[in-house]
Amino acid sequence: MKLPIYFDHHATTPVDPRVLEAMLPYFTEKFGNAASRSHRFGWEAAEAVETARKQVARLIHARPQEILFTSGATESDNLALKGVARAHREKGNHIITLPTEHKAVLDSCHRLEQEGFRVTYLPVNRDGLIDLDRLKAAFTPQTILVSVMAAHNEIGVVQALTAIGQLCGERGVLFHTDAAQAAGKIPIHVESMQIDLLSISAHKMYGPKGVGALYVRERKPPLAIEPLIDGGGHERGMRSGTLNVPGIVGLGKACEICRQEMPQESERLCSLRDRLRDGILSRLDDVYVNGSMERRLPHNLNLSFASVDSESLLVALNDIALSTGSACTSAKSEPSYVLKALGVPDELAYASLRFGLGRFNTEEEVDYVVDRVAEAVTNLRSLSPALE
Ligand SMILES: Cc1ncc(COP(=O)(O)O)c(C=O)c1O
Repeated sequence: MKLPIYFDHHATTPVDPRVLEAMLPYFTEKFGNAASRSHRFGWEAAEAVETARKQVARLIHARPQEILFTSGATESDNLALKGVARAHREKGNHIITLPTEHKAVLDSCHRLEQEGFRVTYLPVNRDGLIDLDRLKAAFTPQTILVSVMAAHNEIGVVQALTAIGQLCGERGVLFHTDAAQAAGKIPIHVESMQIDLLSISAHKMYGPKGVGALYVRERKPPLAIEPLIDGGGHERGMRSGTLNVPGIVGLGKACEICRQEMPQESERLCSLRDRLRDGILSRLDDVYVNGSMERRLPHNLNLSFASVDSESLLVALNDIALSTGSACTSAKSEPSYVLKALGVPDELAYASLRFGLGRFNTEEEVDYVVDRVAEAVTNLRSLSPALE
């Protein structure tokens, strides 16, 4: 077993060697610009991009022409929210989202509020899941868009996408989901879930950083989206700029591998995750799981350890790559806004750790982490004045 152990797969994942192998030729001998129409170099690159488009589409049961390549989920979220809102201003000015969304969604909403849009941040239940009755009550005739994350980057909870899609569909409201953490990990079916826009990031699914996609449902007339970037009219005018061909090839390959291996991989990760949880809970008292355990990504665990400060815990666990799940602002470390939105008391929000398992983790690593966490928490608690 090699140290340090990587347990932070929600932050990013290593590139799968099979993905790297697929990408490499597109840096060197197949270096063409996918927009070059007059020679073989360009055709080769364009062909690779179209293959990747099919691979991404297939993962989420979309059609290739519904996939737009971007620089990642941050850009996809920005394009989905700002692009749709600005293009639909005439129809309405109201957006519904959750306070637990990623900053790429929340900050896009804040920007839109400055432009005169109205945003409802629906409170979530204690388990992090959306309350569908609250959602029903939040629609107004002005509502144009609902944005709800498919699976959560901190607490791993998986939202009721089909039910949300249905509520939106019945009202003619567009439904966007940030699936950066969900795509490739759990089945997603954009048709049956009635999803109109969906954000994907390659580096969360064993692909390279700096590349992603936005699924935009095909409609007649086409869904209007105001581009964020103007230029050469790439990606049907919705996202100008020379395509990142090696990155796109990597994203496509990553999607293909996830699609093929998802059933076995999620079963294996789920059992590793449960081993981790059971191991920690059997060794320590006063440990609380944050977020629904039933509707959760297979590789996510988020725990609060009473009477322990998570920053000290991270220092004590210096041979394990973990994160607190709390967003740190400049100098001052704040408790996670996500845990606060769930109603987790501050002292437990300050005591949380996010465990994100991945493709290359082993049972041996899980057992090591259980030992180290139990030891570190026991030690810190023995020093804690609160327990004296
Ligand atoms: C849910 C979610 N949305 C968006 C992002 C941003 O993705 P990217 O790094 O591809 O911009 C992340 C990753 O941090 C994420 O977890």
